Amino acid sequence: REKQRQEGVNLMELSASFFRERLRMPEGKAARDYLHARGLSPEIQEDFAIGYAPEAWDALKRHLGERGVSESVQIEYGLLIHREDSGRRYDRFRDRVIFPIRDIKGRTIAFGGRVMGDAKPKYLNSPETPVFHKGRELYGLYEARQANRHLERLLIVEGYMDVVALAQFGIRNAVATLGTAASETHLQRLFRLVDEVVFCFDGDRAGRQAATRALETVLPLMIDGRQARFLFLPEGDDPDTLVRREGEAAFQNRITCASPLSEFLFEQAAEGRDLGSIESRERYASQVLKAVERLPDGVLKSLMLSELASRTGVETSRFEALLNRHDTASA
Ligand code: GTP
Ligand code: MN
Ligand code: MN
Ligand code: MN
Ligand code: MN
Repeated sequence: REKQRQEGVNLMELSASFFRERLRMPEGKAARDYLHARGLSPEIQEDFAIGYAPEAWDALKRHLGERGVSESVQIEYGLLIHREDSGRRYDRFRDRVIFPIRDIKGRTIAFGGRVMGDAKPKYLNSPETPVFHKGRELYGLYEARQANRHLERLLIVEGYMDVVALAQFGIRNAVATLGTAASETHLQRLFRLVDEVVFCFDGDRAGRQAATRALETVLPLMIDGRQARFLFLPEGDDPDTLVRREGEAAFQNRITCASPLSEFLFEQAAEGRDLGSIESRERYASQVLKAVERLPDGVLKSLMLSELASRTGVETSRFEALLNRHDTASA
């Protein structure tokens, strides 16, 4: 077990160095041009250890084989694909720009690879392996910790390119989930490191839906002293495009102005309701109560109830009674 694991860790480091070397070789020219066209400086490429997987079926397989890494371990760690039907074994990452995913200690545990053209899939990630669990890991967390002596807050963005572009513009505290929504485990991990997380969403429909999901997930984690805020970008932008267009200061300003959880929650419940009728106020209050119910007991929860009371003209004690009744019903 332990020996297998050591071999796995070793294999990921060997692969990461292989990809980086290939980026510098003649065959890496198109990838270097691509990264240049995306505006990534050599320094930031270095910080994130960006590499290139050559266009071949067995380049990494041979490289690792020559260094004594068995094919079964290459398969277990997701670098080699084994087709059961044909028996063929070939490199998973081919002709892609490679983003190594590192754990909190800086060990490479997975890779993300981007095509340079329009082929699908646009991004290819390592599968779940003994060291890589998508639901736990965050791209850029190691790099954020390296760049900041003391992290105050972390920004959660969608993609690899967003993390790297923000870092290049001096915003070195962004992390990305790996093609999944932020899970409770992700958020728990972040709150162990910082007291404040800022979710960053695209200004489109998908972004608003993602925000609703993020709100649901973060509510139970909001013990007093923690903060969650919600930042919506203009339609059509992601952090990468936006920071390049408006620069660091404007983007920092957006972060500063991001809505606190309380504000986002009330706004969301009010959306599409005129609150002029008793019925619409009832639905508004019910939606807010449903969310407040998920908050841990604490000052925030009490304040949210008082705020709801003053917004609806109902006494706080009424809402408290409703919440307690739900507690007993579900207990
Ligand atoms: P660029 O197009 O390079 O700017 O990437 P992006 O980071 O803006 O990607 P996008 O907004 O399309 O997607 C956000 C994130 O979702 C990516 O960084 C990936 O982690 C993930 N993702 C996007 N496309 C795919 C895909 O085809 N397959 C998988 N597995 N994940 C994807
Ligand atoms: Mn602190
Ligand atoms: Mn979008
Ligand atoms: Mn993008
Ligand atoms: Mn994007």
